[in-house]
Amino acid sequence: MEVLIREDPENGCLLGAKIIARVVREKPDAVLGLATGRTPLQLYKELIRMHREEGLDFSQITTFNLDEYVGLPATHDQSYRYFMRENLFRHINIDQSRTHVPDGTAVDMHAECRSYEQHIIDAGGIDIQLLGLGRNGHIGFNEPTGSLRSRTWIKILSKQTLEDNSAFFGSLEDMPKHALTMGIGTILDAKRVLLLAFGPAKVRAVEDMIEGPLAAVCPGSALQLHPRATVILDENSAAGLRYADHYRWINENKFDWQRHK
Ligand code: F6R
Repeated sequence: MEVLIREDPENGCLLGAKIIARVVREKPDAVLGLATGRTPLQLYKELIRMHREEGLDFSQITTFNLDEYVGLPATHDQSYRYFMRENLFRHINIDQSRTHVPDGTAVDMHAECRSYEQHIIDAGGIDIQLLGLGRNGHIGFNEPTGSLRSRTWIKILSKQTLEDNSAFFGSLEDMPKHALTMGIGTILDAKRVLLLAFGPAKVRAVEDMIEGPLAAVCPGSALQLHPRATVILDENSAAGLRYADHYRWINENKFDWQRHK
């Protein structure tokens, strides 16, 4: 796992945007896996700026989002389809028909999950999957103790996740308790993964993900198995890492071609 520590979330997001922009430039028809939540907002703003000011071209890009709440239509302002439209898609030159978010209103949810997996395969697989990290170590909506080889499926959200996200819905009662999410197996199939985690609330999850044992109690620890996983942290989220100096040492001693420029 490549661990990059930046002084604050803003610099972390700028670096994340640079990594994604490089994929887009090198492969104009790349397949991007995207995430929602608070963490990637600044990264999306930077991609929008690069599109406007530097001509970063998304016209042939395909995207697959990690997850969607069950029962929320695309028009609901807390649906992840709505989030993506408002925070990225409508500001760049992406072909909306190439953007995919699981359909949380599907009548046959099992069929929806299976066809989501098939669409990813048909698109040639995900070139780079962006991820955030839940306070309990979840990635996508894969909550602790779920299978580390799961595929896109219907998941029951943990109480912790409901607490963390219910503010967006006004109250706990108004928040859906189920989501469709790519599984951990789906995420591990991406050619590259890029996880961002910032702030003191993520300290424990970051420790468990990077330095803890590979264990279903911390779904993020599954990334230890990925051959090309990059994690971007800020000083706060990295505060509990035993090997922080080692990660800094590694970065100082990289070959020039290994650096993210
Ligand atoms: C979002 C997702 C979640 C979030 C995680 C962190 O699509 O799948 O795993 O990445 O809950 O959320 P924030 O960024 O709001 O702290």
